Amino acid sequence: MTTFWSTWICVLTIGSLIGLTWLLIGTRKGETKGSVDQTMGHSFDGIEEYDNPLPQWWFMLFAGTLVFAVGYLILYPGLGNWKGILPGYEEGWTGAHEWEKEMAKADAKFGPIFAKFAAMPGEEVAKDPQALKMGGRLFASNCAVCHGSDAKGAFGFPNLTDDIWRWGGSAETIKTTIMGGRMAAMPAWGEVLGETGVKNVAAYVRHELAGLPLPADSGVDLQAGQQTFSTTCVACHGAKGQGTELMGAPNLTQPTGFIYGTSLTQLQQTIRHGRQGQMPAQHELLGNDKVQLLAAYVYSLSHSPGADHLQAESKTE
Ligand code: HEC
Ligand code: HEC
Repeated sequence: MTTFWSTWICVLTIGSLIGLTWLLIGTRKGETKGSVDQTMGHSFDGIEEYDNPLPQWWFMLFAGTLVFAVGYLILYPGLGNWKGILPGYEEGWTGAHEWEKEMAKADAKFGPIFAKFAAMPGEEVAKDPQALKMGGRLFASNCAVCHGSDAKGAFGFPNLTDDIWRWGGSAETIKTTIMGGRMAAMPAWGEVLGETGVKNVAAYVRHELAGLPLPADSGVDLQAGQQTFSTTCVACHGAKGQGTELMGAPNLTQPTGFIYGTSLTQLQQTIRHGRQGQMPAQHELLGNDKVQLLAAYVYSLSHSPGADHLQAESKTE
């Protein structure tokens, strides 16, 4: 704050306090005998105004607030650039500064615990109840917006409890996913294949790969769909549609893992326009030690028998 504004605030605040004190004392009427219940001597439509002194309790309360204000402004930052005489406000008071102090305190408290888990292999951390509890809390505040509080995903967001992985499911790979984020790129094929081509290959994916029924009157050419798949899609989704983790190309034989829907219309939409799912990198935001706990937590969701119990617990906290 510049000296001008600091002075401005001081003058205004101290001026008001002095003004109020003067008002309180200067206009105080002593209670003289017989003065009670005297009227001001005027009457409006029969209503008269009394001229009584302030009640004692009210006067004391007002005086008390003035004393409190002075004490507060001496102890705490409030008057312009004055830092207060209590320790801890050397840099003045700001919300951001208070938050930093809280965070530093939390880091000092939890840092050693985080460090212990960071040094263990993820699969081991995933067996530690304390680690899973902490991971569950981190998940609730950082990941649940997209993956859901039960981690079961939604349209466009993968289910993390089903042990079907687009990018790989070892504790180490999950950690890599969370640290660096992932950008999936399924190209748009509408222009290349044309409408009929899209419909044929969508039907092929649904019926032959995912093993789901087709409507009797779909009128598609599955043979042509297979042809298209083996020339256009294998590079990423593999000869049998089993997917390629390196690219995040999903396994098309596991329809429960599809995040963009399995209906013919949805499949056609995906193939026609492509999809670009993005998992945001957490490296800078959360750092290695917290991501270690998160990876262990996510891993545990599909690997530990107690996973359901833990999820329920993290939800109620
Ligand atoms: C360049 C690699 C690449 C090629 C070629 C490719 N895909 Fe994909 N495909 C992907 C990736 C990566 C994803 C995941 C997109 C995402 O998660 O946002 C994907 C997603 C999909 C999905 C959605 C699955 C879900 O989770 O809902 C379908 C269906 C699909 N591809 C079908 C095809 C078909 C059919 C072809 C051939 C016409 C094809 N893909 C060609 C990389 C590719
Ligand atoms: C802004 C939304 C968003 C947030 C927040 C988010 N994710 Fe994701 N996440 C995604 C999307 C979208 C994908 C799928 C990317 C793709 O299409 O391949 C994904 C994929 C993943 C995968 C890979 C799944 C697989 O099948 O390989 C993991 C693991 C994961 N997220 C964990 C987390 C964790 C842990 C957090 C919290 C730190 C988190 N995500 C926060 C959107 C999000």
